[in-house]
Amino acid sequence: MAAKQKTIVIGVTGSISAYKAADLASRFAQAGFRVEVIMTSEAVQFIAPLTFRNITGRPVVTTMWDLASEFSVEHIALAEAADIVLIAPATANIIAKIAGGIADDMLTCTVLATKAPIVIAPAMNDNMWANEITQENVTHLKKRGFSFVGPGYGRLASGKMGTGRLTSLDEIFGVVLQILGRKGDLARKHIVVTAGGTQEPVDPVRCLTNHSSGKMGYAVAEAARNGRRNVRLGT
Ligand SMILES: Cc1cc2nc3c(=O)[nH]c(=O)nc-3n(C[C@H](O)[C@H](O)[C@H](O)COP(=O)(O)O)c2cc1C
Repeated sequence: MAAKQKTIVIGVTGSISAYKAADLASRFAQAGFRVEVIMTSEAVQFIAPLTFRNITGRPVVTTMWDLASEFSVEHIALAEAADIVLIAPATANIIAKIAGGIADDMLTCTVLATKAPIVIAPAMNDNMWANEITQENVTHLKKRGFSFVGPGYGRLASGKMGTGRLTSLDEIFGVVLQILGRKGDLARKHIVVTAGGTQEPVDPVRCLTNHSSGKMGYAVAEAARNGRRNVRLGT
């Protein structure tokens, strides 16, 4: 029996790195997810909803007040449909709003109403990230079970180096799969994977072997790791 398609709700907020969310949406769509995108009104200043619509094949939610939208009728429909909610990039503003329990747009309503795990990938200026107010908001949300991935260190939009960049898309993708996997089919299973060529002794000095690169074993281990943390890889 085919596994049920997972739904990821991606919240995109008003950061200069919003364009990277298009790549993320594409990765999840290619991985077989139903991808629903909610953009804040600031996010649409940075990237067009049409981009996400074409990538996901789904309508993009940009407001609660679009009477033609299937979601405006039931403003918490996406909260219920979500298997996981990812906010990437997440501004200092959205983190503060969520920490304060504000629900004044579709993204914050969805976050407040969902029972799905929520992953936040912050992206902002390094001083905004280091600010005690932001740090207190992050600590508060972590205590409440929100997962954070990043931000990373590197060149910021201002041109200077610092911590505040949206972390790598590989990392965000991996964390989402890992969190989903903890609840999935492989949960509580220990997996042992061997990678690389095998050897079969012919006699005490000779053996039969092959040219395996080990790449397949590594890929299997990586997929298993994304589904469950307890993986042992041998070569
Ligand atoms: C060019 C530009 C880039 C911005 N980049 C960021 C950013 O990376 N991170 C951030 O927290 N705010 C950034 N801001 C400020 C946010 O857009 C602003 O706080 C906005 O109210 C966020 O709204 P939202 O959280 O509802 O999307 C930027 C603003 C401008 C004009």
